[in-house]
Amino acid sequence: ARLDARNTFGVRARAPMLVEVTDTAALPELAGYAMLRDPALLVLGGGSNLLLAADPPGAVLTFNTCGISLLDASDRQALVRAEAGVVWHDFVLWTLGHGLSGLENLALIPGTVGAAPIQNIGAYGVEVCECVHAVEAFDRHTGRFVRLSPADCAFAYRDSVFKQQPDRYWVTAVEFSLSRQFQPRLDYAGLAAELQAMGVTDSPRPAQVAEAVIRIRRRKLPDPAVLGNAGSFFKNPLVPQAQAEALRAEHPALPVYPAGDGVRCKLSAAWLIEQCGWKGHRDGDAGVSAQHALVLVNHGNASGADLLALARRIAASVQARFGVAIEPEPRLVGATW
Ligand code: EPU
Repeated sequence: ARLDARNTFGVRARAPMLVEVTDTAALPELAGYAMLRDPALLVLGGGSNLLLAADPPGAVLTFNTCGISLLDASDRQALVRAEAGVVWHDFVLWTLGHGLSGLENLALIPGTVGAAPIQNIGAYGVEVCECVHAVEAFDRHTGRFVRLSPADCAFAYRDSVFKQQPDRYWVTAVEFSLSRQFQPRLDYAGLAAELQAMGVTDSPRPAQVAEAVIRIRRRKLPDPAVLGNAGSFFKNPLVPQAQAEALRAEHPALPVYPAGDGVRCKLSAAWLIEQCGWKGHRDGDAGVSAQHALVLVNHGNASGADLLALARRIAASVQARFGVAIEPEPRLVGATW
């Protein structure tokens, strides 16, 4: 099966077999098939957070399940369940249409609901784990369906148990706890400014916050439908506070944020990369977005290997200049970092 249209980098790749699941009741039986038991199995959502550096050697499994249901609702809260194959942004719009808030800052993130908890998607001051009530999954170790609490999921910045134990769970659905009483989350500085530019001066509605996020994203991030990319290619590095202070003394403009654990700081990988001169750089068809230094782009016919080679050169130059290691955010297939 061709994967060219199933990865947002738009690189050419093919898999020996593609299994599309439309009913999760089939999973216990599917889990017994030799090709699906193979550790080389690749579970694919929207293909928006992976780099196919080579053809996947094993089968590809993908979920077409697309149900959304309201499990429980009160005046203040609602519990909503969405199946793994639901397109993330469509789900965000569904929640807004039902008067529910919590996910508005995460509007327009590419990918599916099933992929959202895996890297704990986050943007504009909110991480999805803040609204996750439970994650339903098939546990390949035990052959049973499980329901994981947020604590079981071990969520952290762009991280979770699903990333830590990549061959264990198939996420089948996510339950979200959403609010009917809106408390805007405008900690990300640019968000309040965007609302103001939209003429929204006081108490924005959730849909207006989503609209502000959409406007910022359209301006800052290339649209994968137009220019192949997988969003941020590197995570913002977490470094000890003393190292952040030393770097800040030398480079006063370096953006530094608290990591939330009281010990480390998060540095802006985009800033480090831009300082090394990579923004807008192009090696054949593999390049760095001119809009955002953290985004690698495929100008047409770059291979996954071309993009990976460029990523390695970028990371090496950031290491040499700043002494900071940066790591890829997307999943690498057919290569290790
Ligand atoms: N910056 C530069 N050069 C650039 C772009 C940004 O120097 O080309 C500096 C600016 O100083 C800016 C700072 O970096 O203030 C932060 O930039 P931005 O607000 O765009 O956020 P980011 O840290 O680069 C993260 C997420 C994005 C998310 C935004 C907004 C990661 C790896 N990325 O990017 O997520 O949309 O914050 O919250 O944490 C993704 O994961 O794919 C993604 C797009």
